[in-house]
Formats: sequence, C-alpha cells, structure tokens
Amino acid sequence: MKLGSDVPMTRNDAPIVVLDSGLGGLTVVQALHARMPQERIVYFGDTARLPYGSKTPATVTHFVEQIIHYLEPFQPKHVVIACNTASALALESVRETFPDLSITGVVEPGARAAVDALRPGEEPVIGVIATEATVRSRAYVLAIEDLCPSARVITRATPLLVHVIEEGRELDDPLVRLCLQQYLAPILDRRPSALVLGCTHYPILRPLICELVGKQVSVIDSAAQCAQDVREHLAERGLLRDAGYDMLESIRPAGLPPIDAPAESWLQCYVTDDSPRFAMLASRFLGITVAPPEVVSPDELFANLTAQAL
Ligand code: DGL
Repeated sequence: MKLGSDVPMTRNDAPIVVLDSGLGGLTVVQALHARMPQERIVYFGDTARLPYGSKTPATVTHFVEQIIHYLEPFQPKHVVIACNTASALALESVRETFPDLSITGVVEPGARAAVDALRPGEEPVIGVIATEATVRSRAYVLAIEDLCPSARVITRATPLLVHVIEEGRELDDPLVRLCLQQYLAPILDRRPSALVLGCTHYPILRPLICELVGKQVSVIDSAAQCAQDVREHLAERGLLRDAGYDMLESIRPAGLPPIDAPAESWLQCYVTDDSPRFAMLASRFLGITVAPPEVVSPDELFANLTAQAL
C-alpha cells in the first residue's frame, strides 16, 4: 500500500483528504477538482460501514476519527468531511480530536448556498432532504436559521435514496421516480423556494429532482459551495499547489487544462469494502473513470488506532 511512502515534499504539495461513508463524497471531489485541478486528492469511502445515516453520533464520530487517524501520514493540508451525516453528527468533536488539522464539513456550505439562493421578496421556505441521522440532528435547521432567522425549514428523511443509488438505479428507473415523488410531496405542499440535497449521494439524481420540483424551486447541493470555501481557505493561507506544476506536464500539450488528466494522476481512492460496483458508481459520481481503490478493512483501521494509542 502506498500510504506513508507518499509523504509530500512541501506543504503546498500535500493532498486534500476527502471522506464519506460511501462513494457519494466523490460529488464533492468533482467540485474540488473543477476548481483546483492541480491539487492531489485522497478519497476515503467507508463502504463496508455505509450507511452512516441510520447510526448514532457516537458511532459515526468513532468511524470518522479512525479514518482520519489512518490518513494522518499523508499530512493533509485540508480534510473535507464530504458526508452530511458525519458533518452533522461528528464535525465539532472530530475537530477537537485533531486540533492541528484543518477540517470542514458540508452542512454549513449547503445551508449558506440555500440562503444565498433565496430571491428578494420570496418566502424563505427551505426544504431539506437528508438521511435520518442528519434530520434528527437538526444541523441544517440550525445552520439555516443562523444565517436567516426568518427561514422556515422543512426537513424530510429520505433513507431509501442512498440504497437506490448504491444499487446503481438510473434516473429513468420507475422506482427512483416513485421514491422521489413520495418523499418530496409533503415538502412541495409547503411551497418551498429552495430544496437542499442534504446528502452527498443525491446530486446524481439532480435532473429528476429538478423536474419534479419545478423551475420555481432552486435545487441546492453543498458540493460547489464547499469546494469554493476550501479553495478560498487554501488561497488565504498560501497553500494552493502551484498551478503551473502538473505531474503530466511531459505528456500533455502546454495549455491543455489538467482537468482532463487521468484521475490516477491526482486522485487516490481508499475503500473499506471493495464492491464490484465501485467502478460503476465512482464514474457515475465523478463523471470520469477511476483507478481501482486500495482496500483497507475496518479491522485495519481499528488496529491502526489501537497501535497509535499504545
Ligand atoms: N453520504 C452520506 C451523507 O451525505 C449518506 C450515506 C449514508 O447514510 O451513509 O449523509
């Protein structure tokens, strides 16, 4: 395994670590790469322990801490918890556990994007669909009300969606449409101005969701805002990787945007269970083909944490 043998030369060359319970966080990777194609990204999908959305804050916090401990040898310059559930349940506690790491989540950027999308004169009614744990945490309600105290936030747990997506069902699948119609109906009854896709899996259903909610509802996901925030955070600290540097410089014609570079030159993926679905799902979430992931079992994560504690 390459972990640890790949310690970066300078702080700017250090990777951004992105983690999620599964592969949905690759929607955030896509947004990060679109804004910072020169950055190296290490992605960790805890596929063996998905879903996080039905688990308790203590369990999710424990899982996220194990993953970050495991990835610490990369000396990441930033860590993105690209999972709404983990952001809602574990972000504050994980920041306390790793005070020297810069760590952000996806709930606050999603809430901000939703409030920013409200048009003048519009009723500030915002719908949020998310996992059961995210809804129970009220993290979106609190984050939105913090930014817009007059907002009315309607949340709805939509637990089936993660499974439907992980199963590889496509937008034209009648079950996907039925699921969304059932889940969205009570929100649409309240005539929202915006709908937040409060789970990193959901953006791949965006075209169908947009069709079902209609043009008058702004459909928001946190990936774009989260990626923009990370870019600004790194730029402010002088930590962006030199845009002129590109591992593929020797083989690509000058001026060609490195965003076209094969994913293996900038993205390294880790999963806790190597499902045969990885290739299909990863390319669906990311829009490009991804090299096979490294597999790290949950036992390895646990053993690593125990060894560090001794
Ligand atoms: N990707 C997770 C999120 O954004 C949902 C999947 C899960 O339940 O683990 O909340």
